[in-house]
Amino acid sequence: MKRVITYGTFDLLHYGHIRLLQRARQLGDYLVVALSTDRFNNEEKHKHCYFPYEQRKALLEAIRYVDLVIPEDSWEQKRADIREYHIDTFVMGDDWRGKFDYLREEGCEVVYLPRTPEISTSEIKQDLHEDL
Ligand code: CTP
Repeated sequence: MKRVITYGTFDLLHYGHIRLLQRARQLGDYLVVALSTDRFNNEEKHKHCYFPYEQRKALLEAIRYVDLVIPEDSWEQKRADIREYHIDTFVMGDDWRGKFDYLREEGCEVVYLPRTPEISTSEIKQDLHEDL
């Protein structure tokens, strides 16, 4: 069983997120999504979510490509997660290219997938705001 992990906020779920999750899952047999908590978003990522953690989690759990959702509450937890969940492949969108190469020291593959162009949660928020 090949296990894959990815991290993110996944607020106002959109097709860019779905394509990322689909491709991540195709790299293995079991996909863990580490979902940023509200505290981590607010205090450390300085992102303000529309949907709270429990609702973002429920949406992710309803997606066929996602096998398990765990909380992401610190920048430093990745090494421990890789060990605890026996992860073979760490995946992020290529907006993070190069940033997590050090995780190869844990013996896992690190893969950056191309982002889907022209969509992001911030853009959705901005577009809706401008239309009002
Ligand atoms: N992602 C992607 N393609 C997009 C948007 C996001 O592949 N068009 C990926 C990101 O690279 C990341 C994951 O989806 O691996 C979660 O992204 P997140 O930051 O939660 O979503 P964004 O839409 O990028 O949100 P924001 O605009 O608030 O940064």
